[in-house]
Parts: sequence; C-alpha cells; structure tokens
Amino acid sequence: MSDPMSVTTEYPQAWYPLLRSGELRRGKVVGVRAFSGELVAWRGQDGQAAVMTRHCAHMGADLARGVVTGNELVCPLHRMHIDLSGRGRFAVASRPEPGPCQFTFPVDERYGMVFVYFGAQPGAEWPSHPSDEPYYCSRPFARVFDTSFDAVCLNSFDRDHFSTVHGRELSSYGIEKLDAGGLRVTFRSRIAGTSFVDKVMRATGIRDFGIEVDVHGGNFNMMRNPRTGAGALIATLPVDASHSRLFVVTFGKRGGRGIDWLAGSLRFAVQSWAVMHFLRQDMRAIDGMRVRLDAALLASDPILRLWDEHLRALPLTSVARLQGRGGRAGQLAMVVSNASG
Ligand code: FES
Ligand SMILES: [Fe+2]
Repeated sequence: MSDPMSVTTEYPQAWYPLLRSGELRRGKVVGVRAFSGELVAWRGQDGQAAVMTRHCAHMGADLARGVVTGNELVCPLHRMHIDLSGRGRFAVASRPEPGPCQFTFPVDERYGMVFVYFGAQPGAEWPSHPSDEPYYCSRPFARVFDTSFDAVCLNSFDRDHFSTVHGRELSSYGIEKLDAGGLRVTFRSRIAGTSFVDKVMRATGIRDFGIEVDVHGGNFNMMRNPRTGAGALIATLPVDASHSRLFVVTFGKRGGRGIDWLAGSLRFAVQSWAVMHFLRQDMRAIDGMRVRLDAALLASDPILRLWDEHLRALPLTSVARLQGRGGRAGQLAMVVSNASG
C-alpha cells in the first residue's frame, strides 16, 4: 500500500505547534521550515505573533531577512510593509499604494507555544485542556526527530509497544470517536518494567494506572490520568515528509496555599519527570522510523486500521496551495483594492 504521507508535501488541516513562545521575542523575525515548505514567524511590538508564507507576495524576497517596525514586517527588497493580518502597503514616497497580501495562518498562543492552523480557516474547535481545575503547566520541551509527524500519534494505537518499549501490560484498551472528529483512546496498564521509574512507582504503591488520550488531527495528543488530573500535551510539527519537531508540555493539578501548595508543586515535579521518562522511551524507539502500515498489518490489527482510516480521512493541504489560493489572501486583496479605489 502506498503511503501518501511519505511522498507528498500535503498535510492534514489542523492545529500544529510551530515554535516555543520564548523563541519569538517582540520585534523578532524567524524563518521556520515546516510542512515541507517555508514560513516566517514574527512578533509585533505589541506582543502579537504572526505566521506567514516566507517569500514576499510582491516579488519573492525572503521575509525572514525583513525587520519589524511597530506591528509591521518590512520586506528587505522594496520595503513593502506587511501588517499582522498579511495586508501589504508600499510606504516609500515613490509608491504610496496598497501592495499584495501575504498568506497569513491563523495563530493561537497557548501553553508557552505558538500554534498555527495549517489551513485558511480553523475547521475545528481548539482541542481544549480536559481539566477545569487550576493546573500547573511546564515549560515546553521541543526536539527535532528523524521521523514523520504522525509517528507519535500512531504510538497510542500500537498496542504491542506498550510492553516492548514501556514494560507495561495492558489490562484494558478502548477507543471512542469524539465530536470534533478526534479519537479517544483509553487504556489501563500494569507497571511491569524494570526501569528506575517503574521501580519507584511500584515502591510507592502504584501498581497500575489508567490513561486517556484524545487524539486530534494526525499530530495532537492530549493525555490525562483521570484519577490524578496529571497529563501532557504532546504534539508534532511536520518539518518535511520524514522529519518532525516534537513539543511536550506537562500539566498537573495545582495545590492550594502553604503546605498544600508545596505538596502540589512537588507532586507536579514528580509527575512531569515520570511523563517525560515515559515519552523518552518512545523517542528512542521512534527516532529514524519510516512509518509503514502495509495491507497485511492493517488486516491483522483492527486498531491500527482504525488509526489509518482516521488519518486518511483528514482533509489535506500544502503550503503551495495555501500561498496560491484565493481565500483569505484574495479577500484581503479585494479589501485593499476597494480601499485604493
Ligand atoms: S519583494 Fe517584497 S516588496 Fe518587493
Ligand atoms: Fe509509547
């Protein structure tokens, strides 16, 4: 079976983490290779972040070499000023006129990360943090991997790896569809491994635990232990067909005041350490992986088949298609030309 993800520059339309917020200071411009294409991220002086296609809509100059002035990005070649919504205007005296529009991605900044919606309009609600309680949120971890963006989500559907990679014995496993088109994987596992963390967990009386993972798009996992409220957001950005950048933040229930606060902070530190230890086992195993789900494998495993069907049903797009489409940029172009007329 041919795998469309390995040969194409198209990716599912969904929310993706692009950068850690700390990588994009006020007034800074950063070129980012993502979705087998090139983007530029910048932050205006008011603190708002914008993400656009990287080459200027006027004549293709590299906007990563531009400068931020106020809340506009100025192209290095003919000095077109581009605002946060992508609208261009030539400000030099010889050409005081509106310019073309730069394709601009919907952006949201949460959990210390800059997210982009890969598409013209967000087609789905933002997958929310599942807890209403006040929670701690760690600083984001980020690392580039030599594997495709979908390898991490695939993990939740690969039941065999729980024992071979994590030393966990699954005692129950279930999948349900979520309203927003996502999937919820729920499993319970017994801690049977010999790692230091597993030994510590058993020594503290934790023999098994249940996890709930909400999977959105092909790249976004919201993982949670329903009993403790601890969890993690694990999401990847496709760099190209065989490289991805993994982002992780951990969550934990916040304590009250005084001793309670101290206990909550300590508990969160231990939970974060355990979650990262668990994920590092995955990272070691999937680095260098070229995902292959052939017909025989899919025929023999209905859970993997469900994942494959979910992934293939997602609407795809590419940087080139977004850059060239009428949509958002076209509407902006109309607004600008009306204004000039
Ligand atoms: S190439 Fe950017 S303004 Fe001309
Ligand atoms: Fe795993």
